[in-house]
Amino acid sequence: MTVVDLNQQRIDAWNSDNLPIYEPGLDEVVKACRGKNLFFSTDCEAAIRAAQCIFVSVNTPTKKTGLGKGKAADLTYWESAARNIAAWSTSDKIIVEKSTVPVRTAEAIEKVLLRNCPAPGVHFDILSNPEFLAEGTAIDDLTAPDRVLIGGKIENDRGTAACAALVDVYANWVPRERILTANLWSAELSKLTANAMLAQRISSINAISALCECTGADVSQVSFAIGKDSRIGPKFLNASVGFGGSCFQKDILNLAYICECHGLQEVADYWYSVVGMNDYQKTRFVRRVVSAMFNTIRNKKIAMLGFAFKKDTGDTRETPAIDVAAGMIEDGAKIALYDPQVPEEQVRMDMGEEAMKSITCYKNPTDALQDAHAVTIMTEWDEFKTYDWKEIYQVMHKPAFVFDGRNILDHAHLSEIGFIVYALGKPIDPFLKSAEGA
Ligand code: UGA
Repeated sequence: MTVVDLNQQRIDAWNSDNLPIYEPGLDEVVKACRGKNLFFSTDCEAAIRAAQCIFVSVNTPTKKTGLGKGKAADLTYWESAARNIAAWSTSDKIIVEKSTVPVRTAEAIEKVLLRNCPAPGVHFDILSNPEFLAEGTAIDDLTAPDRVLIGGKIENDRGTAACAALVDVYANWVPRERILTANLWSAELSKLTANAMLAQRISSINAISALCECTGADVSQVSFAIGKDSRIGPKFLNASVGFGGSCFQKDILNLAYICECHGLQEVADYWYSVVGMNDYQKTRFVRRVVSAMFNTIRNKKIAMLGFAFKKDTGDTRETPAIDVAAGMIEDGAKIALYDPQVPEEQVRMDMGEEAMKSITCYKNPTDALQDAHAVTIMTEWDEFKTYDWKEIYQVMHKPAFVFDGRNILDHAHLSEIGFIVYALGKPIDPFLKSAEGA
């Protein structure tokens, strides 16, 4: 397996002791295989020539300009990878779509490959093999996946043979009954649909969390009760300050855009509303912080614990912490940020220079919490649960507020200590009710 990238710096990092991404278990896998059957290189041409099978795993971000701006997937990198593959291939290849792509991308890519390959008689078989692993659990998801999905032209012999070749690769460690084959378009659409449905579950429970706060119901109890229904199941029902990550929003917008292109406006609007609910949840959280703290957070030090979009990753793409921080800065807050994995440089890139005037990044939580008026929990890092909250209470201004955007802390214990606690979808603290005039 040779991993190629045009970016020399990134490849150098993959060949070093400091891998360019943090993912539990990844270091061990890379160190065990690198130089044996795993290689990292910038020599794309040689790798393409030598390969029988090429996984294309390039970025497919949301388009920033032009037709479909803000919704459609930008396939620039995909197309340029396809052009390189065509130019350099001298033997038959299986081309595997690993990147998340719009439905029928394989068809477009096949045209690019066929019309740009100068070598005579070279044949390309295109397969769709969407990736379902999640960050933070990627290695486990890879070694023991719920399923592997391979889409190909199973209506003809060549397509069936190409699918079988990839099935054989996975069958080295995945039980065959978990390796599903489908036609190309179904596989492509399954990826977008899976992410859209997962995000929709979170938006649904987040919508209910708002109602819980009005009615005195507890969203954790509701999640638990409905999760016991085997048709619903218990996973992905944790109310949160909002879903983030590089995929959910991008894939929903892409799915909705495809629907629009097919004249299915009602279907598109249904999926847009999942993103709308996510935005509402972030806004609602900021509103709660401001109103609880007597309608002003100007010049108040607010400790933000966590910036990554979920625990066990240093990834901040689309993290709800960006919008929450921006919202609090708009109201004049001074943010004291601590995340165990996200470096200050990354926060600077995400927030911009202007916002950084109101953000200080700390390398330890103690300094972030000293003299703070409030704590906001943005990421469900396990270490936050282990802090000595009694001691933290001593060093904070009073009343000391905790806004738990992940519902991970022991709220009863915090209230006992003296904190004013806001937890998503939980009965509202009487102090908050009176502060907000509710
Ligand atoms: C997601 C999917 O879960 C993967 O199956 C998919 O392969 C991946 O996108 C992708 O397309 O690349 P990922 O974004 O890494 O994986 O992380 P998730 O665990 O899905 O979490 C996404 C967001 O939802 C996080 O911000 C998380 O905190 C939030 N979340 C998750 C909740 O707010 N509540 C939940 O109950 C679960």
